[in-house]
Amino acid sequence: MTGRTRRVLGALAFTSIFALGGCARGCTSSRPPIHLNPSMDDQPKVRPQTASTFFYDGASMRQPVPGTVAIGGLKEDAAFFTGKGADEQFVATIPVTVDEALVERGRQRYEIYCQPCHDARGDGRGILFQRGNVPTATFHQDKILNYSDGQIFDVITNGVGLMPGYRWPIPPADRWAIVAYVRQLQRDRLARAAATPARP
Ligand code: HEC
Repeated sequence: MTGRTRRVLGALAFTSIFALGGCARGCTSSRPPIHLNPSMDDQPKVRPQTASTFFYDGASMRQPVPGTVAIGGLKEDAAFFTGKGADEQFVATIPVTVDEALVERGRQRYEIYCQPCHDARGDGRGILFQRGNVPTATFHQDKILNYSDGQIFDVITNGVGLMPGYRWPIPPADRWAIVAYVRQLQRDRLARAAATPARP
């Protein structure tokens, strides 16, 4: 080993002691700590909706592979998922069994998602109407009474006019439960009207 090499090695050893020892545990520094073994704490990853230089289309998010279906993504039962039958017409009745539990679930979901605008009785006198005077449909008008169940499901799914669609926040099974509850609200009103003697 020549004298020069020894000096260089000595200088390297000297500086590395400072580099490694410089920010040992417990010392404060405004710089991020030196991570000698990063393991998997920090790894390159793709975040949603970001650009990519890897794929030709420049987007990091990918389309599903053609001809494949994600687990749980097979929606063969068109009536259940769209409210329309094979003939593209709205189904007349709810395509699941309507029982007390379903109506109860529908009441709960209705109170969360519909009541703010349509009010507890479905008269369309919710907060939007009270404060903003927004004309909100009543369920007790002939037009809605004559709607098929599939059509009401479609209104919840896709919205109509000023009403937004609730496709994403409310899963299909709950949308049908809400339809069942809306039907019950309508039936109760009709039954009460029938039971009340007409004024002379
Ligand atoms: C943000 C307020 C709002 C919420 C929440 C809301 N609606 Fe509506 N809804 C409206 C308004 C406003 C209209 C009238 C739309 C128009 O005619 O422009 C309407 C109309 C309707 C109609 C009549 C549609 C037609 O074809 O005339 C139905 C049925 C209905 N809503 C059901 C529901 C159900 C069921 C829910 C709960 C899942 C719900 N709405 C939640 C505001 C709302």
